[in-house]
Amino acid sequence: MTVDKTLLRALRGEALPRPPIWLMRQAGRYLPEYRAVRQEAGSFLDLCFSPELAAEVTLQPIRRYGFDAAILFSDILVVPHAMGQSVRFEEGVGPRLEPLKERRDIDALQVEGVVERLAPVMETLRLLRRGLPQEVTLIGFAGAPWTVASYMVEGGSSRDFALVKGWAYRDPEGFQALIDRLVAATVAYLDAQVVAGAEVIQLFDSWASALPSGILERWSLRPMRAIAEAIKARHPGIPVILFPRGVGVAYEDFARAGGAEGLSLDSGVRPAWAKEILSPQVTVQGNLDPILLVSGGEAMRAEARAICAALEGRPHIFNLGHGIVPQTPPDHVAELVSIVRGAEA
Ligand code: CP3
Repeated sequence: MTVDKTLLRALRGEALPRPPIWLMRQAGRYLPEYRAVRQEAGSFLDLCFSPELAAEVTLQPIRRYGFDAAILFSDILVVPHAMGQSVRFEEGVGPRLEPLKERRDIDALQVEGVVERLAPVMETLRLLRRGLPQEVTLIGFAGAPWTVASYMVEGGSSRDFALVKGWAYRDPEGFQALIDRLVAATVAYLDAQVVAGAEVIQLFDSWASALPSGILERWSLRPMRAIAEAIKARHPGIPVILFPRGVGVAYEDFARAGGAEGLSLDSGVRPAWAKEILSPQVTVQGNLDPILLVSGGEAMRAEARAICAALEGRPHIFNLGHGIVPQTPPDHVAELVSIVRGAEA
């Protein structure tokens, strides 16, 4: 018997009495059982490329909290790694890449062979489809081209995005070549994720906020729509969720023209505004401040209830406005789940 999974129902446009819930970065350092596996794995990339261990850490938050969806454990930066760029994760620092500096560096990136080099990720997905409870939806993901390009050009996290924006302003054709390569590699990668068992795809454009309104469409919306359309052309039933974090009123453009079923809202968006303004065709996801999950208590409870109330009657998936941070107390997550499910004392 097949189960009608709540997350898929919400993404088909059903307004459920209680929204399904999962949380970005639900697997991670705030969980002691994650830290134990992480230590066993060695480096962070080793963990991403060890199917048994990656599947295990994906399942940990499902066992603990019974979320409605599991998100593949991997990272957005495995794509540049598979394209031949050097990528490392430094303890306490974050990602470090050998930065792209000139057109030659873009032309040297490989698109062919990306799926083969990411074969362990597909094996993780196959293990998960076997290991997950039947009511839990499996989410695959990738970074959006703009956000991934920002790490590739800046060489890591950035404060002002001066190098990547400088390139996009100075040499838009050259920068377009990088975006086009990322679109092609990402489509091939996500196609393989769906074949391996991903039931929903989320695209993370975490740094869309760095793009001024005049160039947001070109570097964020269009490449994400191109990926969403290519995935749908190959897999018509697979819903896509876009997360153009921090774009403010431009969320309206993504709802209307993003080519996706779902739109993930950061914490800056007022849910009542989203309900009134965003096309009713899209399912909204979000948008509790991850720091409220750290502080917990009445402030967290009140805001979680307010988000659910504001979005009542429209398709909604409960989530955070951005990923869980490492200092989050695991008990607060359990409390949030029971509030959203309406089961709190
Ligand atoms: O549980 C999940 O959500 C699935 C796994 C996941 C990770 N990264 C694991 C991870 C997902 C979906 C991501 C996406 C990701 N990675 C994004 C987009 C979402 C966002 O947060 O904006 C970005 C920008 C990255 C790039 C990245 N990866 C950075 C900047 C860092 C360092 C910061 C940090 O938190 O350490 C990472 C490392 C990373 N990715 C960790 C995890 C669990 C921590 C590494 C560790 O365990 O040591």
